[in-house]
Amino acid sequence: MVEKRNQRIGVFDSGLGGLFTLRALARDLPMYDYVYVGDTKRVPYGNRSPKTVYEFTRQAVEYLFLQKKCKLVIVACNTASALALRRLQREFLPNHFPDRRLLGVLVPLAEAIQERGSRRVGVLATQSTTESHAIQREIVKRIARVAVFERAAPLLVPIIESGELQLARDALAFYLKPLIQKNTDCLALGCTHYPIFKRTIKSMVGPDVAVVSQDEFLGAKLADYLKRHPDVEQSLSRGRRRIICLTDKTPEFEKRAKEWFGKSMPLKFISF
Ligand code: DGL
Repeated sequence: MVEKRNQRIGVFDSGLGGLFTLRALARDLPMYDYVYVGDTKRVPYGNRSPKTVYEFTRQAVEYLFLQKKCKLVIVACNTASALALRRLQREFLPNHFPDRRLLGVLVPLAEAIQERGSRRVGVLATQSTTESHAIQREIVKRIARVAVFERAAPLLVPIIESGELQLARDALAFYLKPLIQKNTDCLALGCTHYPIFKRTIKSMVGPDVAVVSQDEFLGAKLADYLKRHPDVEQSLSRGRRRIICLTDKTPEFEKRAKEWFGKSMPLKFISF
Protein backbone atom coordinates (compact mmCIF):
# COMPACT_ATOMS: atom_id res chain seq x y z
CA MET A 1 0.00 0.00 0.00
CA VAL A 2 1.34 3.43 -0.92
CA GLU A 3 1.46 5.81 2.06
CA LYS A 4 0.20 9.36 1.72
CA ARG A 5 2.85 11.88 0.74
CA ASN A 6 2.85 13.63 4.09
CA GLN A 7 6.09 12.76 5.84
CA ARG A 8 9.30 14.72 6.04
CA ILE A 9 13.04 14.22 5.95
CA GLY A 10 14.75 14.90 9.28
CA VAL A 11 18.36 16.03 9.50
CA PHE A 12 20.11 15.86 12.86
CA ASP A 13 23.39 17.36 14.01
CA SER A 14 24.94 18.24 17.35
CA GLY A 15 25.06 21.91 16.41
CA LEU A 16 25.29 24.23 13.43
CA GLY A 17 27.61 22.16 11.19
CA GLY A 18 24.73 20.11 9.85
CA LEU A 19 23.14 23.28 8.46
CA PHE A 20 25.80 23.01 5.77
CA THR A 21 24.56 19.48 5.05
CA LEU A 22 20.93 20.60 5.08
CA ARG A 23 21.74 23.38 2.63
CA ALA A 24 23.38 20.87 0.29
CA LEU A 25 20.45 18.43 0.50
CA ALA A 26 17.94 21.22 -0.06
CA ARG A 27 19.99 22.35 -3.07
CA ASP A 28 20.28 18.86 -4.60
CA LEU A 29 16.77 17.60 -3.73
CA PRO A 30 14.78 20.82 -3.30
CA MET A 31 11.27 19.40 -3.67
CA TYR A 32 11.09 17.64 -0.29
CA ASP A 33 10.26 19.07 3.15
CA TYR A 34 13.12 19.04 5.64
CA VAL A 35 13.22 19.44 9.41
CA TYR A 36 16.58 20.16 11.01
CA VAL A 37 17.45 19.62 14.65
CA GLY A 38 20.68 21.08 16.03
CA ASP A 39 21.41 20.24 19.65
CA THR A 40 23.06 23.60 20.32
CA LYS A 41 22.47 23.26 24.05
CA ARG A 42 24.74 20.23 24.35
CA VAL A 43 27.24 20.68 21.51
CA PRO A 44 30.04 19.52 21.28
CA TYR A 45 29.38 15.79 21.17
CA GLY A 46 32.87 15.09 19.89
CA ASN A 47 34.51 14.51 23.26
CA ARG A 48 31.64 12.65 24.91
CA SER A 49 31.24 8.97 25.72
CA PRO A 50 29.38 6.56 23.42
CA LYS A 51 26.68 6.16 26.09
CA THR A 52 25.99 9.91 26.23
CA VAL A 53 26.08 10.37 22.45
CA TYR A 54 23.67 7.44 22.08
CA GLU A 55 21.22 8.95 24.56
CA PHE A 56 21.37 12.47 23.03
CA THR A 57 20.97 11.08 19.51
CA ARG A 58 18.08 8.82 20.52
CA GLN A 59 16.23 11.81 21.99
CA ALA A 60 16.70 13.90 18.83
CA VAL A 61 15.66 11.06 16.53
CA GLU A 62 12.59 10.32 18.63
CA TYR A 63 11.64 14.00 18.51
CA LEU A 64 11.92 14.05 14.72
CA PHE A 65 9.84 10.89 14.35
CA LEU A 66 7.15 11.76 16.88
CA GLN A 67 6.84 15.55 16.80
CA LYS A 68 7.86 16.32 13.22
CA LYS A 69 6.42 13.39 11.27
CA CYS A 70 9.70 12.36 9.71
CA LYS A 71 9.71 9.17 7.68
CA LEU A 72 13.44 9.27 7.37
CA VAL A 73 16.08 10.83 9.61
CA ILE A 74 19.60 11.48 8.41
CA VAL A 75 22.08 11.49 11.26
CA ALA A 76 24.33 14.09 9.64
CA CYS A 77 26.58 14.23 12.70
CA ASN A 78 29.58 11.98 12.13
CA THR A 79 30.14 11.53 15.86
CA ALA A 80 26.55 10.35 16.36
CA SER A 81 26.83 8.15 13.25
CA ALA A 82 30.02 6.62 14.63
CA LEU A 83 28.89 6.12 18.23
CA ALA A 84 25.13 5.68 18.16
CA LEU A 85 23.72 4.87 14.73
CA ARG A 86 24.25 1.12 14.60
CA ARG A 87 22.63 0.52 17.99
CA LEU A 88 19.73 2.79 17.11
CA GLN A 89 19.17 0.89 13.85
CA ARG A 90 19.39 -2.51 15.52
CA GLU A 91 17.57 -1.93 18.81
CA PHE A 92 15.64 1.32 18.95
CA LEU A 93 14.13 1.44 15.46
CA PRO A 94 12.71 -2.12 15.26
CA ASN A 95 11.23 -1.84 18.76
CA HIS A 96 9.76 1.66 18.58
CA PHE A 97 9.53 2.90 14.98
CA PRO A 98 9.63 -0.13 12.67
CA ASP A 99 8.11 1.84 9.76
CA ARG A 100 10.71 4.67 9.88
CA ARG A 101 14.23 4.84 8.48
CA LEU A 102 17.50 6.09 9.94
CA LEU A 103 20.54 6.78 7.79
CA GLY A 104 24.05 7.84 8.79
CA VAL A 105 26.88 9.50 6.90
CA LEU A 106 29.84 7.16 7.34
CA VAL A 107 28.89 4.59 4.70
CA PRO A 108 28.27 7.29 2.05
CA LEU A 109 31.59 8.89 3.06
CA ALA A 110 33.47 5.61 2.62
CA GLU A 111 31.71 5.00 -0.71
CA ALA A 112 32.66 8.47 -1.94
CA ILE A 113 36.31 7.72 -1.08
CA GLN A 114 36.09 4.33 -2.81
CA GLU A 115 34.62 5.96 -5.94
CA ARG A 116 37.69 8.23 -6.10
CA GLY A 117 40.01 5.23 -6.11
CA SER A 118 42.00 6.60 -3.16
CA ARG A 119 44.62 4.42 -1.48
CA ARG A 120 46.10 6.69 1.20
CA VAL A 121 43.32 8.37 3.11
CA GLY A 122 43.58 11.00 5.83
CA VAL A 123 40.56 11.38 8.11
CA LEU A 124 39.99 14.53 10.14
CA ALA A 125 37.28 14.03 12.77
CA THR A 126 36.32 14.63 16.38
CA GLN A 127 38.07 12.90 19.25
CA SER A 128 35.22 10.45 19.85
CA THR A 129 34.84 9.58 16.16
CA THR A 130 38.57 8.99 15.82
CA GLU A 131 38.69 6.82 18.94
CA SER A 132 35.80 4.71 17.63
CA HIS A 133 37.69 4.03 14.34
CA ALA A 134 34.25 3.79 12.73
CA ILE A 135 35.23 5.76 9.61
CA GLN A 136 38.41 3.71 9.21
CA ARG A 137 36.37 0.48 9.47
CA GLU A 138 33.96 1.55 6.72
CA ILE A 139 36.83 2.53 4.41
CA VAL A 140 38.84 -0.67 5.02
CA LYS A 141 35.72 -2.76 4.34
CA ARG A 142 35.46 -1.30 0.85
CA ILE A 143 38.99 -0.65 -0.39
CA ALA A 144 41.66 -3.34 -0.57
CA ARG A 145 45.16 -2.41 0.64
CA VAL A 146 44.12 1.06 1.72
CA ALA A 147 46.08 2.99 4.33
CA VAL A 148 43.97 5.15 6.62
CA PHE A 149 45.43 7.85 8.90
CA GLU A 150 43.07 9.34 11.47
CA ARG A 151 43.56 12.66 13.20
CA ALA A 152 41.38 14.11 15.95
CA ALA A 153 40.79 17.86 15.78
CA PRO A 154 39.11 18.68 19.11
CA LEU A 155 39.48 22.47 18.86
CA LEU A 156 37.73 23.01 15.55
CA VAL A 157 34.10 22.55 16.61
CA PRO A 158 34.31 24.94 19.60
CA ILE A 159 35.99 27.51 17.32
CA ILE A 160 33.20 27.20 14.74
CA GLU A 161 30.34 27.19 17.26
CA SER A 162 31.76 30.32 18.89
CA GLY A 163 32.26 32.07 15.54
CA GLU A 164 35.95 32.77 16.24
CA LEU A 165 36.96 31.47 12.83
CA GLN A 166 40.12 33.59 12.69
CA LEU A 167 41.62 31.26 15.32
CA ALA A 168 41.30 28.22 13.10
CA ARG A 169 44.29 28.63 10.79
CA ASP A 170 46.94 27.59 13.29
CA ALA A 171 44.79 24.76 14.62
CA LEU A 172 44.16 23.48 11.09
CA ALA A 173 47.86 23.64 10.18
CA PHE A 174 48.67 21.71 13.37
CA TYR A 175 46.05 19.02 12.77
CA LEU A 176 46.74 18.61 9.05
CA LYS A 177 50.55 18.46 9.22
CA PRO A 178 50.87 14.75 10.15
CA LEU A 179 48.30 13.78 7.52
CA ILE A 180 50.13 15.75 4.81
CA GLN A 181 53.40 14.09 5.88
CA LYS A 182 51.84 10.67 5.22
CA ASN A 183 51.49 11.53 1.51
CA THR A 184 47.75 11.04 1.54
CA ASP A 185 45.90 11.29 -1.78
CA CYS A 186 42.58 12.06 -0.13
CA LEU A 187 41.41 13.89 2.97
CA ALA A 188 38.00 12.98 4.40
CA LEU A 189 36.28 15.69 6.40
CA GLY A 190 34.69 13.46 9.02
CA CYS A 191 32.67 16.12 10.80
CA THR A 192 29.73 18.23 9.67
CA HIS A 193 31.42 21.40 10.86
CA TYR A 194 34.66 21.16 8.89
CA PRO A 195 33.34 22.03 5.40
CA ILE A 196 33.11 25.61 6.69
CA PHE A 197 36.92 25.60 6.33
CA LYS A 198 36.98 23.73 3.04
CA ARG A 199 38.69 26.46 1.06
CA THR A 200 41.43 26.93 3.68
CA ILE A 201 41.89 23.18 4.06
CA LYS A 202 42.20 22.74 0.28
CA SER A 203 44.86 25.42 0.09
CA MET A 204 46.78 23.77 2.95
CA VAL A 205 46.77 20.21 1.59
CA GLY A 206 47.45 21.28 -2.01
CA PRO A 207 45.96 20.28 -5.36
CA ASP A 208 47.10 16.62 -5.26
CA VAL A 209 44.93 15.77 -2.28
CA ALA A 210 41.19 15.35 -2.93
CA VAL A 211 39.10 16.79 -0.12
CA VAL A 212 35.98 14.67 0.42
CA SER A 213 33.19 16.53 2.15
CA GLN A 214 29.65 15.37 2.89
CA ASP A 215 27.97 18.45 1.46
CA GLU A 216 29.23 17.35 -1.96
CA PHE A 217 28.09 13.72 -2.10
CA LEU A 218 25.18 13.30 0.31
CA GLY A 219 22.50 14.66 -2.04
CA ALA A 220 23.39 12.11 -4.73
CA LYS A 221 23.54 9.32 -2.13
CA LEU A 222 20.12 10.25 -0.78
CA ALA A 223 18.66 10.41 -4.30
CA ASP A 224 20.06 6.94 -4.94
CA TYR A 225 18.61 5.62 -1.65
CA LEU A 226 15.17 7.02 -2.48
CA LYS A 227 15.29 5.44 -5.93
CA ARG A 228 16.02 2.06 -4.35
CA HIS A 229 13.30 2.55 -1.70
CA PRO A 230 10.21 3.80 -3.57
CA ASP A 231 7.98 3.14 -0.53
CA VAL A 232 9.99 5.73 1.42
CA GLU A 233 10.13 8.15 -1.49
CA GLN A 234 6.38 7.96 -2.05
CA SER A 235 5.64 8.79 1.57
CA LEU A 236 7.55 12.10 1.43
CA SER A 237 5.78 15.43 1.20
CA ARG A 238 6.87 17.87 -1.48
CA GLY A 239 6.25 21.36 -0.21
CA ARG A 240 9.82 22.73 -0.39
CA ARG A 241 9.50 23.69 3.28
CA ARG A 242 12.48 23.89 5.66
CA ILE A 243 12.02 23.94 9.43
CA ILE A 244 15.04 24.62 11.62
CA CYS A 245 14.90 23.65 15.29
CA LEU A 246 17.56 24.13 17.94
CA THR A 247 17.80 23.33 21.62
CA ASP A 248 19.38 26.63 22.64
CA LYS A 249 19.78 30.10 21.21
CA THR A 250 23.29 30.82 19.96
CA PRO A 251 24.30 33.91 17.95
CA GLU A 252 26.47 31.93 15.54
CA PHE A 253 23.68 29.49 14.69
CA GLU A 254 21.30 32.37 14.02
CA LYS A 255 23.87 34.10 11.84
CA ARG A 256 24.55 30.98 9.77
CA ALA A 257 20.88 30.06 9.42
CA LYS A 258 20.08 33.54 8.10
CA GLU A 259 23.12 33.58 5.82
CA TRP A 260 22.36 30.18 4.29
CA PHE A 261 18.55 30.07 4.35
CA GLY A 262 17.54 33.73 4.17
CA LYS A 263 16.77 36.41 6.73
CA SER A 264 13.15 35.37 7.11
CA MET A 265 13.95 31.77 8.10
CA PRO A 266 12.31 31.26 11.50
CA LEU A 267 14.17 29.28 14.15
CA LYS A 268 12.20 27.12 16.55
CA PHE A 269 13.46 26.48 20.06
CA ILE A 270 12.72 22.99 21.28
CA SER A 271 13.51 20.66 24.16
CA PHE A 272 13.47 16.89 24.18
N1 DGL B 1 28.89 17.62 14.14
C1 DGL B 1 29.68 16.58 14.73
C2 DGL B 1 30.25 15.64 13.73
O1 DGL B 1 29.88 15.64 12.57
C3 DGL B 1 30.76 17.01 15.64
C4 DGL B 1 30.57 18.22 16.42
C5 DGL B 1 30.58 17.99 17.89
O2 DGL B 1 31.64 17.74 18.47
O3 DGL B 1 29.49 18.04 18.42
O4 DGL B 1 31.09 14.84 14.10
